[in-house]
Amino acid sequence: MSYIEIRNIFKIFGPNPQAALELAKSGSDKEEILAKTGHTVGLDDVSLSIEQGETFVIMGLSGSGKSTLIRHLNRLIDPTAGEISFGGENILAMDIPTLNAFRRKRLGMVFQRFGLLPHRNVMDNVAYGLEIQGTDRKTREDIARKWIERVGLAGYENKFPDQLSGGMQQRVGLARALATDPEVLLMDEAFSALDPLIRSDMQEELMKLQAELHKTIVFITHDLDEALRIGDRIAILKDGKLVQVGRPEEIILNPADDYVQAFTRDVNRGKVLRAKSIMEPTTGTISGDQADTSQVVRPDTVLDDILPMALASDQAIRVLDRNDKLIGTIKRQQVITALSHSPAN
Ligand SMILES: Nc1ncnc2c1ncn2[C@@H]1O[C@H](COP(=O)(O)OP(=O)(O)OP(=O)(O)O)[C@@H](O)[C@H]1O
Ligand SMILES: [Mg+2]
Repeated sequence: MSYIEIRNIFKIFGPNPQAALELAKSGSDKEEILAKTGHTVGLDDVSLSIEQGETFVIMGLSGSGKSTLIRHLNRLIDPTAGEISFGGENILAMDIPTLNAFRRKRLGMVFQRFGLLPHRNVMDNVAYGLEIQGTDRKTREDIARKWIERVGLAGYENKFPDQLSGGMQQRVGLARALATDPEVLLMDEAFSALDPLIRSDMQEELMKLQAELHKTIVFITHDLDEALRIGDRIAILKDGKLVQVGRPEEIILNPADDYVQAFTRDVNRGKVLRAKSIMEPTTGTISGDQADTSQVVRPDTVLDDILPMALASDQAIRVLDRNDKLIGTIKRQQVITALSHSPAN
């Protein structure tokens, strides 16, 4: 069982969801249900398994159900039907005190509008979660100082949110979420309000932190480049339904339908696709005369770096793992096919 298990979640918005639920269960879509019942389908039979330590991205057009899904994970809303567990524990069965403790201790949240407390300085914002948990001042300020430093804001402890740029405010948001050492970070469009360069810095920062911390991160975005950059896996929602879940390369190489393909069309495939996903796996070893060291790549080498080699020599490129063991080969045509826009097949 995975760390977070979401099983057959339906969310119907409206005063009398049961009739709409039955329609959704029998296969009617969002548009039809709205026309027949006046109820809005937020989520339609969504099941997902999220592993401990992975960065899991949820994507989809506006109104597809991304926020609705993440709000189920902290129980800001409850499903019309379905089950959700964290570490085997059914979170829908938690009573209010248990739920409050669960949110405080095990979840960290970062949202698009930074949600900082305007009358508290950076230090007191970052220490806020610990203060609520009853941590004494010295301890919480030591911890907060460490996180303020970690997100690059040392020296700003006494500034107030309105004295900081958007990027800095979001760093405070991240430090605040991490200060309580949560198991899970929920991030809803956390970087979407930032300028492109600042946004890219924050993505970098998050990836650096994650390489050390190995939190379970559920990250919502409508930006595919962001999703591909930070996601270990990506789920794509449409009209409340899950249309595809997969690793970034799987989504690009094998989009489940036209909707997913429309998302992936403008992706820079050369920067996203890697040797391991296009190579022909091999089991044999290389004989001495074939061992041209110039035609060697690693499994994680991106296509942009493979293409010049593929064009320079007719020899197949060899993919070697960390122990220099041959694990696959790549021919020129495979590189060209993978870089072209139509899905490879
Ligand atoms: N509280 C609510 N009451 C009624 N309908 C709602 C409510 N919250 C969401 N919905 C509906 O549920 C659907 C999914 O909304 P949701 O906010 O989850 O979309 P989203 O993918 O987060 O979109 P965006 O990218 O615009 O943030 C939409 O049709 C929306 O109108
Ligand atoms: Mg949303």
